[in-house]
Amino acid sequence: MAERLDVDLGDRAYPIFVGASLLGDSTRFVPYIDGRQVFVVTNETIAPLYLDQLRSTLGEFDLDVCIISDGERHKTLETYLQVIDELMARRHNRTTTLLALGGGVVGDITGFVAATYQRGVAFLQIPTTLLAQVDSSVGGKTGVNHPSGKNMIGAFHQPRCVVADTSVLGSLPRREYLAGLAEVIKYGVIRDAEFFAWLEANLTALLDQQEAALVHAITRSCQIKAEVVQADERESGERALLNFGHSFGHALEALTRYETYLHGEAVAIGMVMAVDLSARIGWMSDTDAGRVRDLIEAAGLPVQAKTDVDVEPMLKTMGMDKKVVDGQLRLVLSRGIGHSELTDKVAESTLRALFRG
Ligand SMILES: NC(=O)c1ccc[n+]([C@@H]2O[C@H](COP(=O)([O-])OP(=O)(O)OC[C@H]3O[C@@H](n4cnc5c(N)ncnc54)[C@H](O)[C@@H]3O)[C@@H](O)[C@H]2O)c1
Ligand SMILES: [Zn+2]
Repeated sequence: MAERLDVDLGDRAYPIFVGASLLGDSTRFVPYIDGRQVFVVTNETIAPLYLDQLRSTLGEFDLDVCIISDGERHKTLETYLQVIDELMARRHNRTTTLLALGGGVVGDITGFVAATYQRGVAFLQIPTTLLAQVDSSVGGKTGVNHPSGKNMIGAFHQPRCVVADTSVLGSLPRREYLAGLAEVIKYGVIRDAEFFAWLEANLTALLDQQEAALVHAITRSCQIKAEVVQADERESGERALLNFGHSFGHALEALTRYETYLHGEAVAIGMVMAVDLSARIGWMSDTDAGRVRDLIEAAGLPVQAKTDVDVEPMLKTMGMDKKVVDGQLRLVLSRGIGHSELTDKVAESTLRALFRG
């Protein structure tokens, strides 16, 4: 049984399907593909695992495939052009439909190609990492990195549908899976105390990747992301709440040159910093802050940086964070589990004290 939820964005509304073995279920794909041409973008790791299955599900279409290299370092304009070149060489026209089969990297590149090829064509997201299923495949942000900054080139482009097949998570490296759980926990903290309590009670089932627990966790996460995106599609206010733990996390990632932590791991540490800070300024009880930290730790995620956080570089890196508006650092903090708020009122001295521990 699959869950369906709908992202309500007017004429760009689309469904998200969550369930086991969906790659083999053509009814999740066929209604969302207009023409005969289908173009699958995937990478060298995922292709041998899942491409054949998808190919046989879509047997009625003229299907071409582009296999890109694996890794964030290939999320570039070069790879983008490689995909465009293939589309041109195979004569794909404006009624083609792109399918992104992979994690967030494949999804972001494919979405950006779809946003721009012949001024925009349809695309479907088939996320294969937990992070992509609960985060990057939903919301319509697409893009690639510039040598000087992540996600500096991109566009908003919504998919026709998202097919999140929980069965594919079985082959995901454990570390990648846990990193995705960090984003799941984030949704509970920022918006849903009941979901957070459910995560506490069902963590073992989630760590065992039991199907029912996974389907619920992914569906609820997508619902929360969809609600936030619907309220603020282009990130002026509310969408910023999704960045909970991320100002700190991004700084940690950047200071370690993206070599030490997976994104979700840095976010896990960042969320612990954010609840710690929320407690220090009296927004959150110590009990709630402790529950967040405990759940992150029980999920096998890091709760503190591997080496001491250097105060000055951290402040400087955060100051260059894109969440700074008019020179004032804006942070998402917690008013208690389930409630978060954006604030620009945190004094630099308070941050210094936080980083000193
Ligand atoms: N567009 C958005 O709103 C948004 C949101 C969050 C993150 N992102 C982007 O997402 C990217 C990170 O995504 P990610 O964490 O999925 O990383 P990823 O796409 O690099 O995937 C992680 C690794 O897992 C492998 N893999 C994927 N699925 C697999 C499977 N089922 N079995 C075995 N291996 C599998 C991949 O090949 C890769 O090596 C970043 O570029 C980030 O900027 C985008
Ligand atoms: Zn994130």
